[in-house]
Amino acid sequence: MSETIYIETYGCQMNFADSEVVASILSEAGYTIGKSLDEADYVLINTCAIRDNAEQRVRHRVRELRAQQNRRRMRIGILGCMAERLQSRLMEEEDNVSFVCGPDAYRRLPVLLQQVKEGMQAADVELSSSETYDDIEPVRLASNGISAYISIMRGCQNYCSYCVVPYTRGRERSRNPLTIVSEATALFEKGYREVTLLGQNVNSYTWPDTTFPQLMMKVADISPLLRVRFATSHPKDLSDDLLYAMASYPNICKCIHLPVQSGSNRMLKAMNRKYTVEWYLDRVAAIRRILPECSITTDVIAGFSGETLEDHQATLDLFSSVRYDYAYMFKYSQREGTYAARHLPDDIADEEKTRRLNEIIALQGKIALENNTHEIGREYEVLVEGESHRSPKQLFGRNSQNKVVVFDRLDATPGSYRNVKIKDCTAATLLGELV
Ligand code: 5AD
Ligand code: SF4
Repeated sequence: MSETIYIETYGCQMNFADSEVVASILSEAGYTIGKSLDEADYVLINTCAIRDNAEQRVRHRVRELRAQQNRRRMRIGILGCMAERLQSRLMEEEDNVSFVCGPDAYRRLPVLLQQVKEGMQAADVELSSSETYDDIEPVRLASNGISAYISIMRGCQNYCSYCVVPYTRGRERSRNPLTIVSEATALFEKGYREVTLLGQNVNSYTWPDTTFPQLMMKVADISPLLRVRFATSHPKDLSDDLLYAMASYPNICKCIHLPVQSGSNRMLKAMNRKYTVEWYLDRVAAIRRILPECSITTDVIAGFSGETLEDHQATLDLFSSVRYDYAYMFKYSQREGTYAARHLPDDIADEEKTRRLNEIIALQGKIALENNTHEIGREYEVLVEGESHRSPKQLFGRNSQNKVVVFDRLDATPGSYRNVKIKDCTAATLLGELV
């Protein structure tokens, strides 16, 4: 009987996509991919290292799993960014962990598991300048059969001063467009209706003869019924060409995630973001001009090294002027090995970081609710995804802008496109009726 693997995933969309690659590699190698922890011979935890609290969550989980390990044989492996950052140190600190495997070493997992079976501890954290897993067909783990991720580039070499990603995921490399288009085509033929092209800096995708906008158009050409999204964009690479490509294809979704990080030029410089507030606002203006229907979302960090009250106010002002539809908002967390950890003091007290973060959260909550209130009375094409959490009588889906729309089910079915008229809203959800 084959042994069973259970994969738990933390962190960003890239990690969820990587876990599907891992599932594919291990099922090819003869393992069963289990749906629950209960029968697992091996638990693989795919981890995030971006902030300290992400790592603490994983360590807590590893310690919690010890109780199960006391009852039966179950080995734990750590994959992803934390494995890469801490390497075999992790197995010393958490002695119930049997192996670690970095994000570019997943093809070696069958070998690592064999070593573990033979009673060894195993580790492979080699980074690669070329690995894109482009020949591996991911096993869609948590899929609804409608929407899937496709990883199109890996790594990051922007070296934002606060960020650990360039150290955990290595240098940028793009994937052959032919394999991207064939993966998307196969998904469409299986009934999927939405693909999200993923990369740490998706718009710095590069391939001889294929720019990122051209790649987007090739995927969008598969069918007008296939929605195409992408994440995450770096503002420095957001070209007008991409915006025009988005404008010319109704099935390229009108939603751009454009992390700003701070509204202060002094902070952006210290963060090594390579743009100014003025450059960023020019890109926002280009989006508004070329794609008036487009939603814009962002990431922001409160309390970075040396952030004054004026810098913080500049972030609030930028939020008021851009009026984001959604924002991921974080307190600065110093990460060992980054430029900031080596050269810039973590000098804002934790309570003050929390206070600034809460101020941004409150402002953004108000803006999101106002933005959604303006949607009342409009009609949107919604890709229906499934049953709403609120009630089995209701379904939910998303519009092109990526806003969640909830409506009474009537004759609608998941996987179909339906027009919905917006009648009400909260800061996070639009409530509507089928038309
Ligand atoms: N502390 C807080 N937030 C961070 N991010 C990246 N590194 C850090 C850090 N050290 C945030 C950025 C990035 C998002 C994925 O996580 O906002 O865009
Ligand atoms: Fe980190 Fe900056 Fe790269 Fe994003 S662009 S992954 S924030 S270094």
